[in-house]
Amino acid sequence: MTNIGSYEERLKNFSWSIAEKELGYSDAKTKNIGWYCSDRICDMGKAEKTALIWEGHDGTEKRYSFNDLRLASNTIGKFLKNLGLKNEDRVCLFMDKIPELYFSFLGVLKIGAIVQPLFSAFGDESLHVRLENAETSVIITQRKHVSKVRRILEKSPYLKHIVIVDYDGKHPLREREIAFNLEETVPVEEFEIFPTKAESPSVLHYTSGTTGQPKGVKHVHYSLISQYLTTKWVLDLIEDSLLGQEEDIYWCTADPGWVTGTSYGIIGPWSMGITQCVLDKGFSAENWYQFIEKYNITVWYSAPTAIRSLMKAGDEIVRKFNLSSLRHLASVGEPLNAEAVIWSEKIYGLPFLDTYWQTETGSIMITNFPGMPIRPGSMGKPFPGIVGTVVDTKTYEPITTPGTIGLIAFKPGWPAMMRSYWNNEETYQSKFKNGWYIPGDRARLDDEGYFWFVGRDDDIINTAGHLVSPFEVESALLEAEQVAESAVVSKPDEINMEVVKAFVTLKPGFEPTPDNELTIMNFIRKKLSPLAMPQEIEFVKTLPKTRSGKIMRRLLHAREWGEDIGDTSTLEDEE
Ligand code: PRX
Repeated sequence: MTNIGSYEERLKNFSWSIAEKELGYSDAKTKNIGWYCSDRICDMGKAEKTALIWEGHDGTEKRYSFNDLRLASNTIGKFLKNLGLKNEDRVCLFMDKIPELYFSFLGVLKIGAIVQPLFSAFGDESLHVRLENAETSVIITQRKHVSKVRRILEKSPYLKHIVIVDYDGKHPLREREIAFNLEETVPVEEFEIFPTKAESPSVLHYTSGTTGQPKGVKHVHYSLISQYLTTKWVLDLIEDSLLGQEEDIYWCTADPGWVTGTSYGIIGPWSMGITQCVLDKGFSAENWYQFIEKYNITVWYSAPTAIRSLMKAGDEIVRKFNLSSLRHLASVGEPLNAEAVIWSEKIYGLPFLDTYWQTETGSIMITNFPGMPIRPGSMGKPFPGIVGTVVDTKTYEPITTPGTIGLIAFKPGWPAMMRSYWNNEETYQSKFKNGWYIPGDRARLDDEGYFWFVGRDDDIINTAGHLVSPFEVESALLEAEQVAESAVVSKPDEINMEVVKAFVTLKPGFEPTPDNELTIMNFIRKKLSPLAMPQEIEFVKTLPKTRSGKIMRRLLHAREWGEDIGDTSTLEDEE
């Protein structure tokens, strides 16, 4: 038995009101996601059920019930309100995967403010452009990350408060800094949750764009409807012990700095009242298998790079652990190669089911469903309620011949669809063509309606499931004292699928030495992030350019991937 039952039947009878009904949406006293993920679960009699099992890098374990979740988010909410925050103000979460990150997420939502989660490994520049774009007024962070905030403080006048959740009193707080220690604060039992409406803004996730400027993807509280139902039907989580089934222990490996970590690492599972685990520790096959064994994880949502790394770690290590609790595996973020699916079926007795979606879509769009025959290497079929197809790259008309490559396209209107790009209406509108939302990926459909991913339709690099804008890296490179010009492309990588590679011409006086390569790499790592750091820098005397002087990035890309670009004279004419 699966939650979805028959895919075909669900297609026939589908309406989003299924989720609304299950969530009691029309009569709910608030549409607030913060309330749905904590208070409502307590009201349903699950106050003492474990919501979060957290393990830190030193092995410390903490457990929190849904009532703890409710109290902690109330307490943070009240604290933020006392700072003078209003609904729709932006609050950035800049923390590792510590419990306060999860509680703050709900706390910010509870006061009607907009939560802006950012990956804590971001460097100064990455942090600054995103805070500036959103005019974020509060950032919640940890001691270990506060120095980055201090470095950008002067150019961040909109930032009013820097909340430090683990202040130890050893060094004096500086300008705009304020300490908040959850464990030392009296829990707030009664809290007036902001009466958000379905269309009130909730989460602002930043994603890399085809310019140097990342885009703020604005979601609303109504996204819950898609996130709840996709969690239930795709991740197949079981919410209670009806029919004698064991309750699930769920692990989403994604960081909430990225959309998977919020849609399916917070909202989806907790709105269902599911126990979830968080491991705040670096990746190693041993760490991960140990974690699954220790907490008897049943449902595991991860990403292809991690799966390929586990494959590389080998079969032998798997046998050292008891992973028999696992019953369902899914993956997202980048192409999941057929070998990985076949391997996981062989080694864990369960295939990883590929799911496809984006920051902008807010929830799973195309997916393999539990119980559906899977075609390894394929992303599966659209979620019920999602009208998805492949359209021609020029006319944007649906392609009727199976096997023909085109652009993935969705009919707008599902609940979790982004409502806009923050202050960037023009780019938002450019995503719609001929009545379709175009995510910017190429794919083909087979004769049974399965989607097969082909590639992105732009220059964005997807490294280890994270999107990196080559333009953002190029403009950062220009600030390195050694760099005259650069072109950034992807290059193939066995584990990460693709990694960042930079072609660089040096300023006079600098030599193409390994030392300079390392210095430039580190410069980018600190300024942007470890993900954006080029894994290789190739020093060249000149970069190939069009007649009008534009760098022919496509040519360099083709070389890296061993593709034949054919006659380059047309490229030379490109504007
Ligand atoms: O190119 C597609 C790729 O990741 C992009 C979305 O990235 P992001 O907004 O960061 O969200 C990632 C997590 C939802 C897509 O446009 N992508 C995502 N899932 C898949 C994928 N590529 C191939 N197969 C997938 N299953």
